[in-house]
Amino acid sequence: MASKNIVITVDGPAGAGKSTVARRVASELGIPYLDTGALYRALAYILDSRGIPPEEGEDLNRSLRSISVLLEGGRVTVDDVDVTDMIRTPRVDSIASSYSALPSVRDKLLDLQREQALSGGLVADGRDMGTVVFPLAPLKVYLSASEETRADRRWRELREKGEDFPFDSILEDIRRRDRADMDRACSPLRKAADSVLIDSSDMTIDEVVAKIVSIASEVRHD
Ligand code: DC
Repeated sequence: MASKNIVITVDGPAGAGKSTVARRVASELGIPYLDTGALYRALAYILDSRGIPPEEGEDLNRSLRSISVLLEGGRVTVDDVDVTDMIRTPRVDSIASSYSALPSVRDKLLDLQREQALSGGLVADGRDMGTVVFPLAPLKVYLSASEETRADRRWRELREKGEDFPFDSILEDIRRRDRADMDRACSPLRKAADSVLIDSSDMTIDEVVAKIVSIASEVRHD
């Protein structure tokens, strides 16, 4: 059994299953789960709704200085408003990558993310968990899957919700998000050199979770 103080990072492209897997691993190990995408979504949502465009400059800096982001029990609060249920919309999907490419936005969230590991272990998912936020994490996972698999999963997910989008437009959206995450200058999505690569294309969620839990039990850490 892994220690309750282990920090596990799960990075990878959109649609690889990171949040489902990371949440399940955290629950099996009895440690908290940190969804860093929710933090970026929350900031993007609030800046967009206040009419601050995704551009570095005085307007953005002034807003970022005054905004207070809080994370408690899996809920994200911005300036005392719980935005957890407002950040999973197609609008936020599409704007979050522009805001999250900005260094001042990433700076704003860095300490908040690190603070989550001060009281013990954590499973954190995102794009730069193993490369920037928790570079000393004893177990880093890079979870990937082919573009087609990720698009197919998203297509099925939407269809279950009664939303019928053409497969090709979903595939194009996956490619666009990969480019945005991988090609940005600040904290791009990269596989950390010391991470374990798991390609989930032909694996079930249960198999991926079991693999990570098993590796975690063998990892030595303080
Ligand atoms: O994982 P997600 O789709 O909820 O992430 C939302 C956006 O935030 C997405 O554009 C990628 C970005 N993000 C990031 O840049 N760094 C992270 N650590 C997590 C998410």
